[in-house]
Amino acid sequence: STLKLQTNYLDAYIGQDELLLLNESVKSIHEEMHNKISTGNEFLGWLDYPLEDHSAELEKMLEIALEVRNNAKVFVVIGIGGSYLGAKAIQDALSPYFRVDESLPEVIYAGQNLSGRYMNQLLKYLKYKDVYINVISKSGTTTEPAIAFRILRKYMEEKYGEKANERIIVTTDSEKGALRELANEKGYRSFIIDEDIGGRYSVFTAVGLLPLAIQGYDIHAIMHGVKDAAIDLSEGDVITNQAYQYAAIRQLLLTKGFGVEVLASFEPALKNLHDWWQQLFGESEGKGLDGILPIAASFSTDLHSIGQYIQDGKRFLFETLLHFHEVEEDCEVPYDAQNKDQLNYLSDKSLNMINDIATQGTAMAHVEGGVPVMSIEVGTLDEYHIGYLMYFFMKACAMSAYLQGVNPFDQPGVEAYKFKMSELLGKNSEVRK
Ligand code: PA5
Repeated sequence: STLKLQTNYLDAYIGQDELLLLNESVKSIHEEMHNKISTGNEFLGWLDYPLEDHSAELEKMLEIALEVRNNAKVFVVIGIGGSYLGAKAIQDALSPYFRVDESLPEVIYAGQNLSGRYMNQLLKYLKYKDVYINVISKSGTTTEPAIAFRILRKYMEEKYGEKANERIIVTTDSEKGALRELANEKGYRSFIIDEDIGGRYSVFTAVGLLPLAIQGYDIHAIMHGVKDAAIDLSEGDVITNQAYQYAAIRQLLLTKGFGVEVLASFEPALKNLHDWWQQLFGESEGKGLDGILPIAASFSTDLHSIGQYIQDGKRFLFETLLHFHEVEEDCEVPYDAQNKDQLNYLSDKSLNMINDIATQGTAMAHVEGGVPVMSIEVGTLDEYHIGYLMYFFMKACAMSAYLQGVNPFDQPGVEAYKFKMSELLGKNSEVRK
């Protein structure tokens, strides 16, 4: 199958009977979700989105991608949280580690920090390059991207005059928000984020797909993977639906005192996919003074940092290892006649093979150290499988949050810092000098 959840190391922690006991709850949550009557039902649009026909929208993205490729060296994506992490995750998972393809525009992200240093350097970097901007904000009012857009809009208008408007593409709500107003007024081209799809569930809309189309990724293949996942994960059963199984296991572990989940993999390109996962689960579940704290780790490097803690620290964490079976390129360890480094026992072996053994060895060691370990095995590292995996996580996350008893689609805690920040900055008491 495309994706396999491996749970054989969990026997010491979770019995099959416990899992089956949860099945009634899983079934009824599933029904409520699919009948759109569960809490937060106004944000369940992502569930069936992959099953609908989006070909016209995808074509529009591909047309713009062609235009951008012919007219720009840099494509700046402005957005924060769910408005950029998905695109960045897929981009980094699939792009080469070192080579920069000069024929494609470079995609740069802005608006997810308030660093003056970052913005200053970005403006300098853009100075002599042709640029397009994609500003992504569902609400159209989030401070960080709004500030970045104001600065970059000025830069574009100074550089291109009237023509700047043709180089700015907006992705936002169909009616609401300052960004929609601005788009209407300036005549920017725009993509719509459906009202019933929240930020962290929006990677398969233009939010994620347009920046990926610009870089030449196969957005049809992504949607194909997403659609197959939506079909494969459509049963309300904790055994046959692996997303629900992952959700139920997480919640059982939480009730047994395992309140931290480390998602780790041995392919560094997946680091941003882990960050996307961290946002999805952290923002969906960290509520009501409860929830699992999601931690993203990249092995082997993090085995030499928090790996110590995982093996030997406080026993309140569990680990999920993410593993793609087929990673296209590989490299062999050469034979060395002198063998001073005593590595000849590995000569002619491939790095990917050694990496797979490292994955197994790590799982075994952590299990011995008292860590509940499961793994998610995926096929090839490509657009199709990443799309599939992301939908798997989204469906698992919604179920897991519901089992925990919280609304997966709101983020009241995020508002707290925004409010304090606005207060300190004197929002609404503005007097322009
Ligand atoms: O998942 C979410 O809903 C959030 O992380 C949002 O994506 C983030 O706050 C950005 O919001 P907006 O797109 O409205 O600027």
